[in-house]
Amino acid sequence: MQDRFIHCIAALPTSLRDAILPILNQDFAGHIDAQQIADLCQTTGMTEKALLIGLLPIAAALAKPPISDFHVGAIAKGKSGDIYMGANLELSGEALCHSVHAEQSAISHAWLSGEQKIVDIIVNASPCGHCRQFINELVDGQQVNIHLPEQTTQSLSHYLPYAFGPADLNITEALLTKQQHGLDFDSADPMIIEALDHASLSYAPYTHSYAAVVLETQDGHTYCGRYAENAAFNPSMMPMQMALSTLIRHNRDLSEIKRAVLIESSLGKISLVGASMDALHACAPVELEHIVVEASD
Ligand code: THU
Ligand code: ZN
Repeated sequence: MQDRFIHCIAALPTSLRDAILPILNQDFAGHIDAQQIADLCQTTGMTEKALLIGLLPIAAALAKPPISDFHVGAIAKGKSGDIYMGANLELSGEALCHSVHAEQSAISHAWLSGEQKIVDIIVNASPCGHCRQFINELVDGQQVNIHLPEQTTQSLSHYLPYAFGPADLNITEALLTKQQHGLDFDSADPMIIEALDHASLSYAPYTHSYAAVVLETQDGHTYCGRYAENAAFNPSMMPMQMALSTLIRHNRDLSEIKRAVLIESSLGKISLVGASMDALHACAPVELEHIVVEASD
């Protein structure tokens, strides 16, 4: 088991602790599939809601909050039945707007794993306004169920009435609908090819600045993030933040980053290069490779 789970495991009910231990192996990065969830319910005798709330301390153990020391864990459950954990991330010494909220981390985890719809979000603290707005960008966002410990389950429409969303800006698609943007760039570099693939899947209906980041650690593993815009602009999740959150979920240290690539579309209204460099330099002494590619939309 990974060291980061030692404390939270001790506080779990014994039956859940025994059942979850084999899942928390060295490769665990917060994903538990639908069959494993069904098995966990059966062996522990817990309802699915009680189980997912019981797993929140494990999600919170994925957090890296050096500024607040406030660990938030969230779980996004996809239409497939698989669950995706996420946790907050704060960048030491850098502006607070570079932070990632647990809900954003969990949702981006589900998105990067190919989920096309999120049905439930389970979180250990009431979602802030920024996260409610981020959830509202999802496919059928108003219907997403929010589960909190000690609270009745309510849909997002309860937490975010009179919502402002994509439709107010005449956008009919939503975050997690399949994106496929034409980005053209010739490269044999696997990291650049990976970043291009993710940029073409990014969600940027407001600026068309399709973008992705890939980070490589010293041992050659790569971690990626796609740009996820929001109708209210500020809650957008930048690809650098998403990639950093992915890397931390995989129990890697920021100091292990040895290479970073940002791909952006040439036709976008904005560039993420300045903000991405700021975030990267708060994490590792690595220069950002910035590639602007020809786009067809
Ligand atoms: N935080 C979340 O992760 N989700 C919320 O909805 C509330 C706030 C995080 C952000 C920051 O890292 C810390 O909690 C303090 O606000
Ligand atoms: Zn939040």
